[in-house]
Amino acid sequence: MLSAPPAYAQPIFDRLNASNYLAKPEAAAITAHLIELNAATADGARLRQIITFVAANPRAPLVQALGTGLRRNGTSIEQADTEKQLTPAFIHAASIAHDATATPAARIEAIELLSLQPPAQARTALAAGLTKGQPPAVQRAAINAVAQHYSTESTRLLIEHWSDYDSPAQEAVITILLAREVSANTLLSTIAAGDILPSALSASQVQAVVQHKDASLAARAKQVLASVIPPARAEMVEKFQPALTLSGVADRGQTIYQSRCFICHQAAGLGIALGPDLITVKSKGRAALLSAILEPHKEVASQYIAYTVNTKAGQTLQGIITKDDARSLTLKMLGGVEVNIPRATLKGSASTGQSLMPEGLEAGLDVQGMADLLTFIEELK
Ligand code: HEC
Repeated sequence: MLSAPPAYAQPIFDRLNASNYLAKPEAAAITAHLIELNAATADGARLRQIITFVAANPRAPLVQALGTGLRRNGTSIEQADTEKQLTPAFIHAASIAHDATATPAARIEAIELLSLQPPAQARTALAAGLTKGQPPAVQRAAINAVAQHYSTESTRLLIEHWSDYDSPAQEAVITILLAREVSANTLLSTIAAGDILPSALSASQVQAVVQHKDASLAARAKQVLASVIPPARAEMVEKFQPALTLSGVADRGQTIYQSRCFICHQAAGLGIALGPDLITVKSKGRAALLSAILEPHKEVASQYIAYTVNTKAGQTLQGIITKDDARSLTLKMLGGVEVNIPRATLKGSASTGQSLMPEGLEAGLDVQGMADLLTFIEELK
């Protein structure tokens, strides 16, 4: 049973089949949008009415829209829901989030809902989602939800479960920790103490933190991550010269591509599109390809220059800007995730002048491996 929609939404709801309008994705999206717009400006009785509506239909996207709108209104669910109308929905979500017999989709929605609850109340349910043996998508949702409750406590929780994560989850956790100076420092301390290996950071993550705009953080990173900071480029160019004439095996090269390049380049129908599809560079010539791999910052097309964006909430995000207009900025980050950042929440953005492709991708590769990788690119069809 749905409760009556608030007056402002009546005309739209009337035109939808009221019994299942939330089941239709487009209708749910419109409803969420209306809730956000209204929560951003309403107060008093009208705000209460909106909260009543969401409490009666506590789907994650609607609660999320309420939370976003309230934040724009300078408040939060915790402060605005004085009558605790949403509490039953959060209690229900906590039980689903825990429930190993619930479907992953239901658990993920419950976890997303909990990310909107005050951290202290949601923590136990979310911590259960971090433990080993959860479906990967559930664990990932729990990681993201804990990350949204940013605090020293959430940082501790994410690190405490380190050995419960698979490697994509570990990479995601590092990205989250590096996004804020305080948690980045905590990560460096954990690495210095030997509880996380420096090699857990990808080449991109190493590059981002050793070039951090906070000089003391960058200096500490250079010290703690010394074993994984890429050697001088000239040295590597010299080391890999023989790969230019050595013949390679494309199949072996494909395996190397999958472990090192896949997250940013498509090739042979695989991979994520962040940089160019490697088929577009197959006939550049070996020397040019080798140089592009070893010295990514030497030549960068302007649409691929990496930007660092700081938000008022204290996050530092890195990616390429795919959309930039008066209202917001869209950043495409590693893993191909696009985030839309409203201008109102933006503190500043700066170009690093460098490619998003990091130095040091050759780490651990021998000359034959490089020749295999070059052959794989040259033989792409
Ligand atoms: C973190 C993302 C990332 C990773 C990982 C990455 N690349 Fe790139 N790559 C890019 C981006 C972005 C560009 C385009 C900007 C530039 O030219 O630097 C690029 C450019 C290139 C180019 C030059 C393309 C041109 O138009 O000249 C080559 C060749 C290349 N990458 C090969 C590789 C190979 C091989 C690997 C794996 C060993 C790899 N890349 C890993 C992001 C990445």
